[in-house]
Amino acid sequence: MNGHRTVALIVAAGRGERSGSALPKQFASVAGRPMVAHSYDALTAHPAIDEVIVVTAAEQFETVAATLGAVRCVGGGETRRQSVRAGLEAIAASGGADRVLIHDAARPFLGPAVIERLLLALEQAPGAVPVLPVADTVARADSALGEVVPRDGLVRVQTPQAFHFDAILAAHRGWSGDEPTDDAQMLRAAGGSVALVPGDPMLEKITYPADFAAAEARAATRFRVRSATGYDVHRLEAGEELWLGGILIPHDRGLSGHSDADVGLHALTDALLGTIGAGDIGTHFPPSDPQWKGAASDRFLVHAADLIRARGGILDFVDLTLICEAPKIGPHREAIRTRIAALLEIAEDQVSIKATTTERLGFTGRSEGIAAQAIATVRIPEAG
Ligand code: CTP
Ligand code: MG
Repeated sequence: MNGHRTVALIVAAGRGERSGSALPKQFASVAGRPMVAHSYDALTAHPAIDEVIVVTAAEQFETVAATLGAVRCVGGGETRRQSVRAGLEAIAASGGADRVLIHDAARPFLGPAVIERLLLALEQAPGAVPVLPVADTVARADSALGEVVPRDGLVRVQTPQAFHFDAILAAHRGWSGDEPTDDAQMLRAAGGSVALVPGDPMLEKITYPADFAAAEARAATRFRVRSATGYDVHRLEAGEELWLGGILIPHDRGLSGHSDADVGLHALTDALLGTIGAGDIGTHFPPSDPQWKGAASDRFLVHAADLIRARGGILDFVDLTLICEAPKIGPHREAIRTRIAALLEIAEDQVSIKATTTERLGFTGRSEGIAAQAIATVRIPEAG
């Protein structure tokens, strides 16, 4: 089948009772982001997927919107099966689809390779699932002898699971068995064949408290740490406001130049852009463009952070040094730190603000201008 419309359903309506997490586990932080955001971004970014729908409890719709932005949400059910069914019915009610991928929010680290294997397999079969071999000895815990189960021919089944839409919808509608743990067994019960494709150890499900630490460790192997620096200078002039590090500082002179001339935010913006090789502030906000005249530099910084997050990146740390004789930065350090942490949506302990004079030497020493240098450290996912 050469499906034309492909929809992905993320089921995120569970309570995560076994995880010990205070909030439902799919919204707990993993690798610096709410768990559901990882697979949502992976599915959204895949060119073969036309729409991503999140199935979640109605009281979580706002959390989903705050976490993922404008996304279609469907109310979930008491069991995973009912949540999937609700998602499938919502797709059916809005014109249907050719193919559907059904994915657990509890498996955050989804890469494009598994998606491609699944979609390819759907050309030969109405269903496809990713599987991993069973490496450990498997034994029955309910048998007094601890009877070993031959593991030849056994696999562990993951999600996403991919289906011809009409086939899996019919299987759900016709289901009368016990509560199933996945969708492929329902298609099989309805007589549909399910192809097995290689799964991915990154896709392990997060179920128990210890799984969070294991997931962090897996995530660490998937990211590459990158650091980049930024530097900027602006002239001090009478009659200007002094915006520095995102706050207005009372002073007899202010900085003049591009936008509000906040050298601190400009240096930080360049450092962030540098981590993804995305040019510099002038590439994105040309000083020649009149719309940036007098503009608050906040938006430049936020834009750079957004670009990193759009690539699945995580902001780990920023460090900014302001170089000037006056004003004294010490009294404003905490306010600057708070402001930058808020703009970047990171914690204050991920932001460092330093200042130095140049012993009255040079242009900063003569208070002709203020300079700033910054370094940003981020983690960017490997392609694949
Ligand atoms: N799920 C769902 N609706 C339910 C139950 C589960 O959408 N009524 C989703 C979960 O949010 C999760 C996936 O199905 O993404 C796999 O379920 P599981 O790992 O069992 O998650 P929870 O049910 O949330 O956890 P627990 O069973 O420990 O309460
Ligand atoms: Mg469950």
